[in-house]
Amino acid sequence: MKTDSNWFDDVRVGMFIHWGAYALAARGEWLKSNEKMTDEAYDRYVKFFNPDLFNPKEWAAVAKAAGMKYFVITAKHHDGFCLWDTQYTDYNSMKAPRCRRDLLKDIVEAFRAEGLRVGIYYSLPDWHHPGYVIDARHPQRDNPVPREWQRYTEFLHQQVRELLTHYGKVDLLWFDGAYPDTAHIWDSEKLNNLIRTLQPGIMINRLPGFSAFHSPEQAIPTNGVRDVKGNLLRWEGCQVFSGNTWGYGRYGLDQQAWKSAPEIVQMLIRHTSRGGNLLLNVGPTSRGCLDNHSVSLLREVAEWMRWNSRAIHGCTIAPEEFPEPEACRYTWNPETSTLYLHLFSWPDRRIFLPNLGGKVELAQLLCDGSEILMTEHTPGNTHGAEVPPGNLMLSLPVQCPDTAVPVIELFLKQ
Ligand code: GLC
Repeated sequence: MKTDSNWFDDVRVGMFIHWGAYALAARGEWLKSNEKMTDEAYDRYVKFFNPDLFNPKEWAAVAKAAGMKYFVITAKHHDGFCLWDTQYTDYNSMKAPRCRRDLLKDIVEAFRAEGLRVGIYYSLPDWHHPGYVIDARHPQRDNPVPREWQRYTEFLHQQVRELLTHYGKVDLLWFDGAYPDTAHIWDSEKLNNLIRTLQPGIMINRLPGFSAFHSPEQAIPTNGVRDVKGNLLRWEGCQVFSGNTWGYGRYGLDQQAWKSAPEIVQMLIRHTSRGGNLLLNVGPTSRGCLDNHSVSLLREVAEWMRWNSRAIHGCTIAPEEFPEPEACRYTWNPETSTLYLHLFSWPDRRIFLPNLGGKVELAQLLCDGSEILMTEHTPGNTHGAEVPPGNLMLSLPVQCPDTAVPVIELFLKQ
């Protein structure tokens, strides 16, 4: 039985949700900075932000069906607009005239009810707070003025206290935007102590010096994230469905560059096969819905997970002694000694697995539990199918099964 603290190693896939007043602008979550907007210009989005179709139970159901076991919601992004009923600023969803809801509360309750772990994203930078320094990324960077940043530090700590006090058990606190030039602002050690006191079991991300895992962004490390000695470290990759922004986008690349369902499934496998989690992002619309394109992709992920989830949940990188065949990835369940062969391209009837000769008791196609015939080393066979020493040959059906990525389950002899 695994303890609570390593839930993170089993979940493997979660939903990242970038949502806020910027969804209305539909130009990503950075538009205030990109377009050097004043507070007044940006305020229109808060004023007209009206999530009249908001139903987080629908989001949670879609996430659960896709095999997601946790989620991370942007309680506050860099624009400073808060999705919860905070007493430390009026710049929040409860006070936004057409919203007037504690969105965070509803989201947390809906996802928790589906059994998903709760993650809260909190932006360290804040482009609305009058104490936050005007750094090189700030919308007002062309008119820098000195700021009393200690006021912001206090505000940040108060808000974190609020988030970790009023929403029950929080499993993950995901900070973002800890740039080195602003590091003095967070008072990280004090912040870490505060967090630990309020939620002792929580995992922290991206608070320099106190992060429980690494979080590469839109990049999958070739061999996982490792320390200098080569030991695998905890990591989680975050990825978008389209373009290069996280908040809802209707323009440019966000509109055009959608990944396909097989690409997303492969992406998930690439993360698991290197010992990492995948946090897959959605940017709901300003009316409070997941967009249709993301939903249809998630449904395809769900369909694949329906048959193949045991090649993902609880799995990790395979032992080094089993090198991956060409165009394949392995995932490995250490508790059951089961190896999963993910085929990114369907071979012509046979595939050779190095170092697995004599080690597999049974092989089956995971989507329908049908046996795959195995042949061990056969010296002297001249018909082109000689199995090299130490290899295991799998004889595959001619036709590729109708699934985003076919998986073969290999039960190792114990
Ligand atoms: C990048 C983006 C930020 C987003 C984050 C998610 O840092 O700039 O907007 O929230 O990725 O990891």
